[in-house]
This record gives sequence, structure tokens and C-alpha cells, in this order.
Amino acid sequence: MNKHPASQLLGLIVAASVGGLCLPALADSPNEHADGIAVYTKWCAPCHAPGIIHPGTSALGAKYQGIKSGVILEWTDLPASYVEYMVRHGMSVMPHFRKTEISDSELKALAAYLSRNTP
Ligand code: HEC
Repeated sequence: MNKHPASQLLGLIVAASVGGLCLPALADSPNEHADGIAVYTKWCAPCHAPGIIHPGTSALGAKYQGIKSGVILEWTDLPASYVEYMVRHGMSVMPHFRKTEISDSELKALAAYLSRNTP
């Protein structure tokens, strides 16, 4: 068996996975969404961070059955207007948030952050 093509393939896989790790980090400039990330971290991450111990992630994993991730940060079909609606209205065990908790301008920043991957 000729090992040469296999090692080339391995090189490609390594290059692709390194690229996969670096490119989103570069595209997601930390300053652009700093305010949105702060709001997300304070109010949403306790329930929506990756990992089934988080009730939002776990509920959405069960709800979407592998059609999409249970992690809302990974969604590519999450419009800003829907984030704003969800945050003000809640859904089943997810609470709604008052303007004294998340102000309108904080909500705008949060919605921009969560919809950053949505075309
Ligand atoms: C107390 C836990 C909790 C907190 C805090 C929370 N969520 Fe949720 N969220 C949930 C649960 C549970 C669901 C699933 C609800 C369902 O489908 O019945 C959910 C669902 C969602 C959905 C998806 C709804 C859909 O269409 O399926 C979005 C978007 C969302 N949350 C955004 C947020 C944002 C943004 C925040 C922060 C402001 C937040 N959530 C805070 C628990 C939480």
C-alpha cells in the first residue's frame, strides 16, 4: 500500500481543522460584539451555554432532535428580531426579561451578537 496519498490527506485534514479553529475566531472580532457578549454571558449563558447541564441547551437539543444544535450561539437561523421577541416574552420555562434587567440598548447588542451568523 502506498502511504503517500494518505499522508497528504492527513495534512489536508490537519490544515482544515486548524483553519476551522482559527477562522471563526478571526471573523468574530472581540470588540464588535463586546456589549452583546457581556449581556449574553450574564443573562443567557447560565441556561444556554454548551453542555446538557444547561437547561436551555438541553431543552433545545431535545426539541430540535439534531436538526440543529441545542446551543443558540451556533444557530445560523436566529434573526435579531426573534431574539428580541424571545427575551421580552420568554417561552415555557424560559423567563422573559424586563427593561430594568436588560435595557433596550443592551437587547439590541445581544440580538446583534446572537444573529451574527444568520444571513
Ligand atoms: C432559566 C433558563 C433560561 C434563561 C436564563 C434563558 N433561556 Fe432561552 N430558553 C430556555 C429554555 C428551557 C428554552 C426552550 C423553551 C422551549 O422550547 O420550550 C429556551 C429557548 C430559547 C430560544 C429558542 C426558542 C425556539 O425558537 O426554539 C432562544 C432564541 C432563547 N432561548 C434565547 C435566550 C436568550 C437570548 C437569553 C438571555 C437573555 C435566554 N434565552 C435566557 C431557558 C432559558
